Amino acid sequence: MKTLIKNATVVFPTGAARASVLLEGDRIVSIDAPSTTTAEQVIDASGLHLLPGVIDDQVHFREPGLTHKEDLAHASRACAAGGVTTFLEMPNTKPPAVTVEAVRDKERLAAAHSLVNYGFYIGATSENVDQLRKVDGVPGIKIFIGSSTGNLLVDEQAALERIFAETELPICAHCEDETTVRRNAERFAGNDDVAVHSQIRSAEAAWIATRRAIDLARRHQHRFHVLHVSTAAELELLADPAPLVTAEVCPHHLFFNIDDYPRLGSLVQMNPSIKTAEDNRGLWQGLLEGRIQVIATDHAPHTLEEKQQPYPASPSGLPAVENSLPLLLDRAAAGACTLEQIASWMSDAPARVWDIVGKGRIEVGYAADLVLVDMQARRTIRNAEQHTKAGWSPWDGVELTGWPVKTWVGGQLVFDQGRFESTVRGRKPLFDHARGGYWSTHDGIGVE
Ligand code: DOR
Repeated sequence: MKTLIKNATVVFPTGAARASVLLEGDRIVSIDAPSTTTAEQVIDASGLHLLPGVIDDQVHFREPGLTHKEDLAHASRACAAGGVTTFLEMPNTKPPAVTVEAVRDKERLAAAHSLVNYGFYIGATSENVDQLRKVDGVPGIKIFIGSSTGNLLVDEQAALERIFAETELPICAHCEDETTVRRNAERFAGNDDVAVHSQIRSAEAAWIATRRAIDLARRHQHRFHVLHVSTAAELELLADPAPLVTAEVCPHHLFFNIDDYPRLGSLVQMNPSIKTAEDNRGLWQGLLEGRIQVIATDHAPHTLEEKQQPYPASPSGLPAVENSLPLLLDRAAAGACTLEQIASWMSDAPARVWDIVGKGRIEVGYAADLVLVDMQARRTIRNAEQHTKAGWSPWDGVELTGWPVKTWVGGQLVFDQGRFESTVRGRKPLFDHARGGYWSTHDGIGVE
């Protein structure tokens, strides 16, 4: 099947240009298709921008085991609606994905239920180094150096040293210092104001754990990705460690801060916690300067009922996978960044960090994973229109400029202005860790 996307403004890594893009099978086969080109499906994309599909490298889709909060069918529709064509999912499901077998089970579930492409991290425990060494076909290893939803904490130094020393896959971690968090929690025991969450999961807790993890990565010369950086102070830790260390930021740490607790309460209770307006500004600056390479959501849905329990019984986490691209497009519409930067942060960089072959760019031979966006469209995020099973968004009521209108996965149109092609199934990409990660020079050889 051939699809011709005519007259789009195509966002390439080097800039945007008018082009006609031809898809054949699951690939991009031409980016300057002549006007005589024929195809089964022809789309006139005049006035619209074509971007590489978003690769969200940090999501919690809750299947198996926690499917009252979310499942792959709902979450992958949310992805398609939000221009996300590949997700990488975290291991704190039930059972946790800490064995090769549990990872393979999740891949089977995704092959059956996911509209978009998928990969699953293997989770580290204090005792599963044999599994971490054995597993293949995964983006990497996830360590919870600080505890969060689930019980996947690895805090003892000896266990961490062993994981960094004895495994080969890239590692990423949730960095909040457990000792600091526990000490702060004792101080605020009995206080049910959710705003104390940001004092318990403090800036200091984030800084200590990020420093500890980067120190491990350096000493063991092990590739390492800092998940959800939440403070401007951590940027200082990210100044030198390239080319070993990469980092990411989430929309909630860019766009929410402690002043939002009175309005949104536990809806913005997250781990790491949201911090100050100054941190919002610092993190944005970190992206613009390249100290942070990736934007990912940490989509972590809980039901509204669960969230409405009084703090600290209210669980940490918020859904975001279908909101992240529109939130960033709105920033581009306001002139705060360019579409090329968005394509780098949300598509090319995550593909490079996790060695995903043939994705993240619009180039001949690359995957036909694409999102067409309308930078003139102005719409409001509404709880009732969310596709996540959780059925709410912390951005409910926020009006944005710039929205996805069509999303292709492997050359197939899965989302078309509110409608889904539900029979499409995503695939697991090729993770080729021999290519060496974000800082390697594998440009132009991205084709499977
Ligand atoms: O707030 C969070 N919730 N942060 C995480 O990293 C995990 C997540 C979850 O799974 O609920």
